[in-house]
Amino acid sequence: MIRASIMGATGYAGVELVRLLTAHPEVRLSRLSSVSFEGKALSEVYPALRGICDTVLVGEEDVTEETDVLFCSLPAGHAEKMARRCVDKGVLFIDLGADFRLDDEADYIEWYGGAYQDKELHAVQVYGLPELFGERIPGAKIIGNPGCYPTSVALGLAPALREGLAGTQGIVIDSKSGVTGAGRGLTQTTHFPDCNEAFSPYKIACHRHTPEIEQSLGRLSGKEVRVTFVPHLLPLNRGIVSTIYAPWAGAPLEEIHARYWAFYQGKTFVRVLPLGEAANLKNVRCSNYCDISLHLDRRAGKLIIVSAIDNMVKGAAGQAIQNMNLALGLPETAGLMMVPPAI
Ligand SMILES: NC(=O)c1ccc[n+]([C@@H]2O[C@H](COP(=O)([O-])OP(=O)(O)OC[C@H]3O[C@@H](n4cnc5c(N)ncnc54)[C@H](OP(=O)(O)O)[C@@H]3O)[C@@H](O)[C@H]2O)c1
Repeated sequence: MIRASIMGATGYAGVELVRLLTAHPEVRLSRLSSVSFEGKALSEVYPALRGICDTVLVGEEDVTEETDVLFCSLPAGHAEKMARRCVDKGVLFIDLGADFRLDDEADYIEWYGGAYQDKELHAVQVYGLPELFGERIPGAKIIGNPGCYPTSVALGLAPALREGLAGTQGIVIDSKSGVTGAGRGLTQTTHFPDCNEAFSPYKIACHRHTPEIEQSLGRLSGKEVRVTFVPHLLPLNRGIVSTIYAPWAGAPLEEIHARYWAFYQGKTFVRVLPLGEAANLKNVRCSNYCDISLHLDRRAGKLIIVSAIDNMVKGAAGQAIQNMNLALGLPETAGLMMVPPAI
């Protein structure tokens, strides 16, 4: 059995990792760390886990003991030190935060406000979006797990940009996320009376995921891409829908649909919907699926792509486990075939 440990196990993405890894056939949970709840059982913090994961939370110093893979689920800026320790010990390191996602350090400095300290680590980092950039994941030592919005956008646009079905200039991305995307820390905007029965954009054209989205779209198209990205906060717990408007290159919608279908053939977690249907976050909740639907605004010359994921699963913990499976030579889908609740 592979021994998996989690830093930041009390956070939303961390506890989702616990939920999924508990049912993984090849994994045994080892160390779970917390700063705020060290010494308490995880099930005291999340009573849903009573009798399922009563593991006592340890401090960060102990989290790499008896460990083959460490999932680091902390806010950005905290991952390097632990990544170094893991690399030196031969432990696979998977960061759910943003510290190993961006190739260009200048982007990290601009959007996250800190420089890379241990540059050797960044020379071997691998961006873990298996359906699109999976070739370097097997055997990787450090995996930067993609952000939730960038996952939904890159999967939605990949066939269009790889195959020239849409232009790269003037792409507009309108994304909506449930409140768990903001993590468990309470802020004014995520306070129940403020977000319930409310709906608004935030960080308009200045969200930190913008350079990561542009990095993926640039790799897919082979061109420099600039996008307009506007996220919104939905008064729901989970889920992301990204509605993407891209310049239509002229192919009939039926052909675009056939090319999308062929592109994702054999990719278990991406479902290209029949024409006429629209992707809905309800249909991917609690699962590792990404649903994609395709639409054409012939009058305005826009290909409209709708992409839906669960931000906590395909957007975080599920994709991190998919990356672990590939890095360690397990079946890609191991522990990830959760069926979304139909109602
Ligand atoms: N939520 C999502 O949908 C999602 C999706 C994709 C990626 N991510 C990324 O995954 C990482 C974790 O996200 P999350 O949503 O789980 O966040 P979260 O709910 O705020 O959890 C982060 C955890 O990190 C721990 N922590 C340790 N040192 C910390 C520090 N200096 N400041 C704040 N917290 C610290 C905290 O637990 P203790 O105090 O118990 O140690 C906290 O519970 C982030 O980098 C986030 O960007 C999240």
